Amino acid sequence: MANVAIIGAQWGDEGKGKIVDLFTQDADIIVRFQGGNNAGHTLVVDGQKTVLHLVPSGALHADKFCVIGNGVVVDPEFLIEEIDALKRRGHLQDDSRLRISEQAHVIMPYHKLIDQARERLRGEGMIGTTGRGIGPAYEDKVARVGIRFVDLLEEDTFREKLERNIAEKNFYLKAILKENTLDFDAIHRSYGLFRERLKGYVENTGLLLDREVRAGKRVLFEGAQGTLLDVDHGTYPFVTSSSTITGGACSGSGIGPQHIQQVIGISKAYTTRVGSGPFPTELHGPDGETLRREGAEFGATTGRSRRCGWFDAVGVRHAVRTNGLTGLALTKLDVLTGFKQIPICTAYRYEGSTINEFPASSKIMQNAKPVYQEMNGWDSPLDAVRKFSDLPANAQKYVRRIEEVIGTEIILVSVGPGREQTILLKNPFEEKPVGSRQ
Ligand code: GDP
Ligand code: IMO
Ligand code: MG
Repeated sequence: MANVAIIGAQWGDEGKGKIVDLFTQDADIIVRFQGGNNAGHTLVVDGQKTVLHLVPSGALHADKFCVIGNGVVVDPEFLIEEIDALKRRGHLQDDSRLRISEQAHVIMPYHKLIDQARERLRGEGMIGTTGRGIGPAYEDKVARVGIRFVDLLEEDTFREKLERNIAEKNFYLKAILKENTLDFDAIHRSYGLFRERLKGYVENTGLLLDREVRAGKRVLFEGAQGTLLDVDHGTYPFVTSSSTITGGACSGSGIGPQHIQQVIGISKAYTTRVGSGPFPTELHGPDGETLRREGAEFGATTGRSRRCGWFDAVGVRHAVRTNGLTGLALTKLDVLTGFKQIPICTAYRYEGSTINEFPASSKIMQNAKPVYQEMNGWDSPLDAVRKFSDLPANAQKYVRRIEEVIGTEIILVSVGPGREQTILLKNPFEEKPVGSRQ
């Protein structure tokens, strides 16, 4: 029986929330291992929409355990609000089913201020961050001055670390960013309240996972963001500040790689991106508008409108390689209904040469032109289709062609936001296929 990682194969918002919620039925524990509340994962169950930012997308199943791993950066005030909102809707009734790593870093008010002030100062060159303090919190972690939950829980350690940080950050805020400074007492008081509220959830989650895996429990690792936003492998510097790939699931949860047997990449049947940065297949005309409208492409976290373009096999092949994907879930195929022709980008052209591998150079990425293969479209809606063989012939051909150009099996096709709007071809938790294409 496998443990499975679910990883974004593009620039985020691929539909990870839906797929994690769906596979939660086969898992015992669902683990977030990186990112923070920059993520927005949408679940639609019985027509009711839930957007989760920090709590793992297994939370709608009462009998599962959810873990916020050591690699996550946690805004405690935001987490408390999310927990309360879920509780009001009848979820997370048993507090022992949500665990927070004692090593997870805490997002502080200065992280958010610095994030937002820097973006303002960057002007045109802004990254387009979510403004939630994610980058500055990871900076402090790597600079070895961050505050972890275990530090927050020890009152004297917390006071000492906060004093040192406030002195340094206030200087930076005032002298460099020309911002107002922050008041130690106010932060100390409010974080004291967050400590009291959250301390019951804090645990050594690495140990917990090791114990459960050894006992035969099945773990689902829930990626946030996507491979092309990975701090090492993405379109640097237009990336997030964490390791979004499968490797991050080990470092961000404290388990060894032998415990992850299946890695499922999630990709839309086209491409979107929020924020700045290169995007070779981006559409600026009416086709892009159609994708945005039909796909409701507006950010689940910031409400920003998402940039839209055709499927980019160069990017997804990069995700196949860097994550060791064992399969791909293709989402939002329904959104492509009605296009006469649907191009697939199979390579890039740059200064007279063909590029098949995702370039590291920002200059090449900014100027790369997609090489397209045109596929024929289809007219009938797909949202009620539940079997691969019931898809229009051209939709089947489109899926198979994507499979060929990325060199990886498609194990699931999603045809709507609802949990049930899914064509499952192979369950990664089981070795044998549960459906077939015939
Ligand atoms: P995540 O961040 O990867 O979890 O993705 P988001 O939740 O930010 O964005 C995906 C959006 O697409 C959400 O609004 C989902 O409800 C929706 N969605 C997911 N799968 C499908 C699908 O197959 N078809 C359609 N039309 N919408 C989908
Ligand atoms: P999910 O998990 C899409 C983008 C931001 C910005 C860049 C850096 O829902 O797929 P950050 O606030 O992380 O420093 O911003 O990364 N970004 C996302 N884009 N989906 C996400 O998460 C994202 N999280 C961050 O828009 O371009
Ligand atoms: Mg999202």
